[in-house]
Amino acid sequence: MHQLVPEPGPVLDVLTSLADDNRPVPADRPWVMANMVMSIDGAFAVDGRSGALGTPGDRTVFHALRALADVILVGAGTARDEHYRRPVAVADAAAIRRERGQEPAARLVLVSRRGLIPDDQPFLTGDGPDPLLVHAQPLPAVVPARVDTLECPDAAGGVDLPALLGHLRSNGARLVLCEGGPGLLGELHRQDLVDELFVTVSPRLVGGRSVGLLGSGPALLRARRLHRLWRDEDDALFSSYRRP
Ligand SMILES: NC(=O)c1ccc[n+]([C@@H]2O[C@H](COP(=O)([O-])OP(=O)(O)OC[C@H]3O[C@@H](n4cnc5c(N)ncnc54)[C@H](OP(=O)(O)O)[C@@H]3O)[C@@H](O)[C@H]2O)c1
Repeated sequence: MHQLVPEPGPVLDVLTSLADDNRPVPADRPWVMANMVMSIDGAFAVDGRSGALGTPGDRTVFHALRALADVILVGAGTARDEHYRRPVAVADAAAIRRERGQEPAARLVLVSRRGLIPDDQPFLTGDGPDPLLVHAQPLPAVVPARVDTLECPDAAGGVDLPALLGHLRSNGARLVLCEGGPGLLGELHRQDLVDELFVTVSPRLVGGRSVGLLGSGPALLRARRLHRLWRDEDDALFSSYRRP
């Protein structure tokens, strides 16, 4: 992995480089990072999944960001499509997390309107903290075991994202990592709740309709500043953007 911006040079340790970046935590919510991978032409999925877009370098960045976060925030659609599991403790990050007073592993937080969780989801079992299902509508009669729930509707029928982030902050979360999907990320963008966006441009062309990291909601223009740019041996580009 090689850094092109800010100062060129090898990236000796992805986890440490990402951990050492300054992330001033707001008083009323956590610092919100988002991480997405796309093709050169902006496709976020191939046949309904993002896996085919990844490179080994992308997976390294993906896991390093997860290893630093208190919360992995994900749209329920993505959790279902991508068969999400509970985040687990990462040995390489144990010392960093201990020093920062973080739990050993991040907690999965699912954002849903309907609160529908099929009972075969991998995140319903396994090690790590029980996921939190945050929903807008009243829950169906049966909710799978080993999931905590929080009803948090906004006036538009979705989850009240500022209120959710405030809740997470008051429960100790300082660093949230949103892994999409485009529906949720678009809403975070419109509400100006993304502090740091990581985008991997994978050297692939895809076409099709699954294009646009912020989904198909109303457009809203926001300027961003390039914070870092890396390139790996497979010609994938890793960028991170922050507010100007
Ligand atoms: N390239 C990448 O990095 C990447 C990352 C993530 C996902 N993806 C791909 O993206 C596709 C899924 O896209 P998507 O836009 O449908 O994903 P999504 O945002 O994860 O899922 C949409 C669903 O999430 C819930 N949701 C989203 N925003 C909400 C809000 N503001 N309030 C309440 N609930 C909200 C709703 O769940 P309910 O239906 O439960 O009400 C909604 O139906 C999949 O193909 C996946 O593979 C790609």
